[in-house]
Parts: sequence; structure tokens; C-alpha cells
Amino acid sequence: MGAPRVVRVGMLGCGTVGSAVARLLADHAGDVEERAGVRLEVARVAVRDPGRERDVPVEASRFTADPLAVVEDPEVEVVCELMGGTEPARQLILAALDAGKPVVTANKELLATWGRDLFDRAEAAGVDLAFEAAVGGGIPLVRPLKESLAGERVRRLVGIVNGTTNYVLTRMSEDELSFAEALAEAQALGYAEADPAADVDGHDAAAKCAILASIAFNTRVVASDVYREGIGAVAQEDIRNARTLGYVIKPVAIAELEDEDVAVRVHPAMIPANHPLAAVRDAFNAVFVEGDRVGELMLYGRGAGGDPTATAVVGDLVRVARNLALGGRAQGCTCYLDRRIRPMDDMESAYYLLLQVQDRHGVLAQIAGVFGDNEVSIKSVWQEGTGHDALLVLITHRAREGSLQSTVRQLRDLPPVTAVRNVLRVEGTE
Ligand SMILES: NC(=O)c1ccc[n+]([C@@H]2O[C@H](COP(=O)([O-])OP(=O)(O)OC[C@H]3O[C@@H](n4cnc5c(N)ncnc54)[C@H](OP(=O)(O)O)[C@@H]3O)[C@@H](O)[C@H]2O)c1
Repeated sequence: MGAPRVVRVGMLGCGTVGSAVARLLADHAGDVEERAGVRLEVARVAVRDPGRERDVPVEASRFTADPLAVVEDPEVEVVCELMGGTEPARQLILAALDAGKPVVTANKELLATWGRDLFDRAEAAGVDLAFEAAVGGGIPLVRPLKESLAGERVRRLVGIVNGTTNYVLTRMSEDELSFAEALAEAQALGYAEADPAADVDGHDAAAKCAILASIAFNTRVVASDVYREGIGAVAQEDIRNARTLGYVIKPVAIAELEDEDVAVRVHPAMIPANHPLAAVRDAFNAVFVEGDRVGELMLYGRGAGGDPTATAVVGDLVRVARNLALGGRAQGCTCYLDRRIRPMDDMESAYYLLLQVQDRHGVLAQIAGVFGDNEVSIKSVWQEGTGHDALLVLITHRAREGSLQSTVRQLRDLPPVTAVRNVLRVEGTE
């Protein structure tokens, strides 16, 4: 037998994920070679600072500060983009595709904004653009949705797709930490960014939700289509009330088909304590899928971190390299429909409201009247305390978001209501 065909990989970025990919390719070289049918070699690596010492099994001479030189290097057959951000990553990926080089990327931010351009160019060039690691880190989600479920009609996805916010809400729920304390802990553990807004305000989850919705519903959904609310308003009193009612508060990303429209949203929500997603704790991620025939299934695991994410990247590299060596292409873009994005006001959910009210005769009837006027039906109500600081905890039946928001506006103007302390959506209830 002759020497195996070598496929040379050009890496753009060698940080948390890139360095884990380089180590994994070296540590599992034999297995990767058997599975890919080719030997994968890291030929060039672009980083910002090529002089820095790095714990990777790649010769120093292969590092450069010029990412375009990596893309254009005639030895490089596959480009692995792990630098993040939209530019210059977008231009570099386009250059690689135009040069007929397949690309593997983990860049959710880029795909959720510029996915259409990138997939069109990959299609025009007839080369693979693989992105398993962009959603759910080490959890296989893209290929299961695109390929394993190709015969299914997925109706709904509910995911916990951001580890930082799940960690924060888990610590707030289980250890009664305040939001600030839990976030500081997540940062100390390296889960959250130094500027945690991308996590806390839901931007990261919205990008992932857009990618998942595009795949599940075969239509283009971009991050700006996704309704987004952060977890910053969740307070200990909401967590306690949720517990009393048999719920936990989780940071969810929901993508669903409603009358063939796509509805996409990211926000904290109460979910029943016995729902499989309630058991997804700390920085773990999961996506719960509901389909016509398959019923319910859940994919669970580590949604971030160098090593877990590197397994998804290397899985894509193996497949792309196999295609190069043996011919064939991975399934390209599956967005063959043009679905409408349903406005948030037309979506439906059940709701939790925490109202601070003056406890006096007739207040409950006045409040119930506002709900009734807006066609929002109350499922349960309970009162805590008396006098000026009485609290009312209300759960509604499913209602239109627009009707609920109008109810909230009118409640704020109702004299006995001194504050609408919080409003949260409730999943898994009628
Ligand atoms: N970290 C995770 O858990 C995770 C999970 C899923 C997906 N992802 C995605 O994976 C990608 C990489 O994330 P990461 O956490 O590995 O990032 P990172 O640790 O910040 O690494 C980025 C790498 O890119 C290099 N780089 C950045 N800009 C560059 C430029 N203009 N020219 C040349 N090199 C440049 C950096 O060089 P220096 O080393 O010299 O600074 C570094 O090696 C991102 O798209 C991220 O969203 C990450």
C-alpha cells in the first residue's frame, strides 16, 4: 500500500478552539486517517501574534500574521476558520470558496448575519462549507437536523444554547446567588466573556437560534429576525415563585412553525420542573426537538469549550477531506423555502406576571377586567402579603404577545397597581 493522500489544512486562528483542533488532529491522527481515508496535516496557521508561545504541536515556522497568505497558499486545500468576528473572516472565507477550497468554520456570528452570501458562493464554487461547531459546540446538531431528520417535518425547537446564561440562572436558582454574583462566578470560571453582553443580552443565543431555525425550517433566518430579551431582569423573587408553581427559569431559544410562518425568539422562560430541559444545568446546552413523526428528542452536551468544540470542527474536517479525496459533496444549503417571519406580537405563549398592588376592596376585579378587555385569560392567581406592598402572582393561559403587552401597559396605568415587577413567558403549559 502506498502512502495515504495528505490533505493540508490552513487554519485561520489558533486560540481556544483552534489550538484544541491542532492538538486533537495530532493526538488522534491515526483514527482520523482511517476515518477520513486521508491524512490531515496542519500546513499553515494565521494568528494575530505569531511570535507568542503556544501549546500546539505545530512548528513555529508555519505560523503567520497574514491570514490571506494562508488562504492563498497553493499547498492549503482546506481552510478552517476559527478566528471569529465578521471581518476579515467573511472576506477570507469568500476568498477560499472562490479559490475552490472547502471551508470549515465555527463562526456563528458570521453565519447568522452573512450566511446567505457565504452559502451562495459555496454553491457557485461547488465546494463544501461546513459549520457543525457554530451551534452547540460539541453537540452534533447541524448534521442531525439536516441529514438524520431529512425525512421529518420539525415543528419546534426549544434550546438552551448559551452556557453562560444557563450557568447564571442555575446558580441563582440552586444557590440563591444574585445575578451579579452568579455572573462574576461565570466570568471567573471562564464561561462568560469579559464583556458579557453577548451572552447576557441574548445576542449569542439569537445567532444560534437563527442558524437552527434556518436548518430546521429550510428557510433563511438571520439573527436580526430573532426577538431577543436578556436574562438581566430575572430576580430571586421570580425564581422562588417559579419553584412554588413547579417551574424552573431557563434561558431558552425557541424556533417554531406557526401556520407555516417561522417564529423565533430568545428570552428567559419558566419551564415545568419535570421537562427534560429543566435538568440541563450549569454551562450545559441542549436542544429539544419536536417533529411530526419522530415525536420528541433531545440533544444534550457541552455547548462550548475548546475540546468539545474541536471535536465538531474535526468531524467537519474529516468529512470535507473525504469529499476532496474521494469526490462528492456534503449537503449544501437546505434553505429552499421562503417563509415569513412571524412578528413577535402575533406569537403565542402563556405568561407569568408579578404585580405589586395596593390590597384594597375590588382590586382583583379591576385587574381581572384589564386582562379580560385584552382577551387574556387568567389561569391562576395568588397573593402574598397585604397592605401597600401586596404581591400578586398571575399565570395566564396562552395568549397573543400583542394582547399581553397591551394588558401590561394598561396595568401600569391602573392606580392600585404600584409596579409590574416582572413578566416572563411560561413554556409547556396550555
Ligand atoms: N470558545 C468556544 O467555546 C467556542 C464554541 C463554539 C464556537 N466558537 C467560535 O469559534 C471561533 C473561535 O473562538 P475562540 O474562542 O477560539 O477565539 P479566540 O480564543 O479568541 O481565538 C481567536 C484566534 O484567532 C486569531 N485571530 C483573531 N483575529 C485575527 C486576525 N485578524 N488575523 C489573524 N489571526 C486572528 C487569534 O490570534 P492570537 O492568538 O494571536 O490572538 C486567535 O488565535 C469563534 O467564531 C467562536 O464564536 C467558540
